[in-house]
Amino acid sequence: MPDTTATATTTDADTTATTTDADTTATTTDADTTATATTTDADTTDAAATAATTDAAATAAAAALRVAVIVGSVREGRLGPTVTDWFLKTAGTHAPDLHLDVIDLAGVDLPLAMPDWGGAPTPQAAAALAAVSPRLARADAFVVVTPEYNHSFPAALKNLIDWHREQWQAKPVGFVSYGGLGGGLRAVEQLRLVFAELHAVTMRDSVSLHGPWSGIGPDGEPRDTAVSEGAAKGMLGQLHWWARALRTARTQHPYGA
Ligand SMILES: Cc1cc2nc3c(=O)[nH]c(=O)nc-3n(C[C@H](O)[C@H](O)[C@H](O)COP(=O)(O)O)c2cc1C
Repeated sequence: MPDTTATATTTDADTTATTTDADTTATTTDADTTATATTTDADTTDAAATAATTDAAATAAAAALRVAVIVGSVREGRLGPTVTDWFLKTAGTHAPDLHLDVIDLAGVDLPLAMPDWGGAPTPQAAAALAAVSPRLARADAFVVVTPEYNHSFPAALKNLIDWHREQWQAKPVGFVSYGGLGGGLRAVEQLRLVFAELHAVTMRDSVSLHGPWSGIGPDGEPRDTAVSEGAAKGMLGQLHWWARALRTARTQHPYGA
């Protein structure tokens, strides 16, 4: 994956810090008057702040990217875990530097009923939120594994999305979908609208497994492995770029929505 990008980012950061230090030194040498000294102090403070921000951005750029992989179906006998296992294996091959955290909604006990504005969640909701919300908040990016139900996506997925807000903001979202002939694409297109409302960025390319009954073999592998792996590789490449770029941007300028 893009090691080159990491190097370029670090180099840019170093260059900015060096230029700022040089400017500060030159100004200090000229400082004869109090007014100039005050300006110089301000410049030095600015320079220190800039350097600190730049350091934080460089550190953020170097850390492993965390991706929450959300399993969107919860019904008995679901194919969701099989599709997810294939995706995890594929991601391990094509994007081994990503840190993947699987959030299976079958294990997330969020109720449908939400509290009033400003109200406290029920103990059941509070316990579920305590388990899942920090994992969403920590994620630099998301991959949503979703089937298509009645030309849309499962209700459990919408419930998780609606219980959260800033956890999604200024982060990229990729999709792995499956279904009948449409390969879950109608679910994905609807999810794009929902995530846009939440200030998230959806990846142009997605993985779409057409007809789970014929598209996934008994070993859990898609029958058209080459096509599916190619799609996964493309989506992961875009997700990687956006995850790194937006994490750096959030570090330098906290997103205010
Ligand atoms: C309630 C329901 C509605 C469905 N509606 C559609 C649909 O509109 N389009 C489609 O391609 N497949 C549809 N399917 C087929 C599912 O996409 C397919 O069974 C898939 O495996 C479901 O995901 P899951 O096994 O993880 O629950 C539907 C399945 C269910 C259970």
